[in-house]
Amino acid sequence: MPDQQPSWTLVIHGGAGVLERSRMTPELDAQHRAGLDAALQAGASLLAEGGSALDAVEAAARSLEDNELFNAGRGAVLTYDGTTELDAAIMDGRERDAGAVTGVSATRNPISLARAVMEKSPHVFLGGKGADQFAQEQGIEQAGRDYFDLPLRRKQLEELKAMGADWFDVDMKFGTIGAVARDVNGHVAAATSTGGITGKRWGRIGDSPVIGSGTWADDRSCAVSATGSGEFFIRAAVAHEIAARMRYLGEDAQAAADAVIADVGALGGDGGVIVVTPAGEPVFSFNSDGMYRGFATPSGRTVAIYGDE
Ligand code: GLY
Repeated sequence: MPDQQPSWTLVIHGGAGVLERSRMTPELDAQHRAGLDAALQAGASLLAEGGSALDAVEAAARSLEDNELFNAGRGAVLTYDGTTELDAAIMDGRERDAGAVTGVSATRNPISLARAVMEKSPHVFLGGKGADQFAQEQGIEQAGRDYFDLPLRRKQLEELKAMGADWFDVDMKFGTIGAVARDVNGHVAAATSTGGITGKRWGRIGDSPVIGSGTWADDRSCAVSATGSGEFFIRAAVAHEIAARMRYLGEDAQAAADAVIADVGALGGDGGVIVVTPAGEPVFSFNSDGMYRGFATPSGRTVAIYGDE
């Protein structure tokens, strides 16, 4: 555990799911840990200089989006048609300003597009062609198909298609990335970004960009970023529910997160959340075997993957 009340805290995740030591090579284990640590460094360096929680979560999320190991940005999984449909959301706990995008096809860092929606449009949530058009008009960096079309993601899609109709029941890991932070001024923020699930169809949208499901930040309670089977996380309104339990029931963040993840499990869903409170307490809760995760405070950085560490 970090200091009793650290002056700033950054918490990140890189997805949850079937993460067992027996399925991971030492090289992949080390690469994932290095990717998580790089994201912590990107956000922590800002917080250590007095930067805002909002800037820190964006920087950490961009680092994970740029890393092809994680299912967001460059490493996003492919849709059934072999395309990329990216989802992201960002929220500032000061005034509950929020921005979100879904079904974005060519933006390198969807989290920055979500921030542009929040700061440069009168709207909260943009989707599909309109979100792509807004990205271009805002000068947000775009990338060609070859940037996103990675051999591993194509192989995963082909394997899934070969399984036939039971695609949603496959033993999948829930790739999403996210960050929550508390800055030196006591403000919190949250960011979440994902490619969704391999083989998704019909414009399917998960929980990540849905404000209150995959992403939430409110200085009165906490900031939350979720990763898991989005269909269940939407139905449990996970991120807002955690904040509501803290505000209305007086639960601490760990108790609230554990209760909501238990509710997701009762519905049949798997995954987890990261939470940070206005006091800087980092919280993790997940019902999957593991979750790529980490946190940083002025005392240092820690990363973990498996459930028993
Ligand atoms: N949690 C990410 C998704 O379901 O799309």
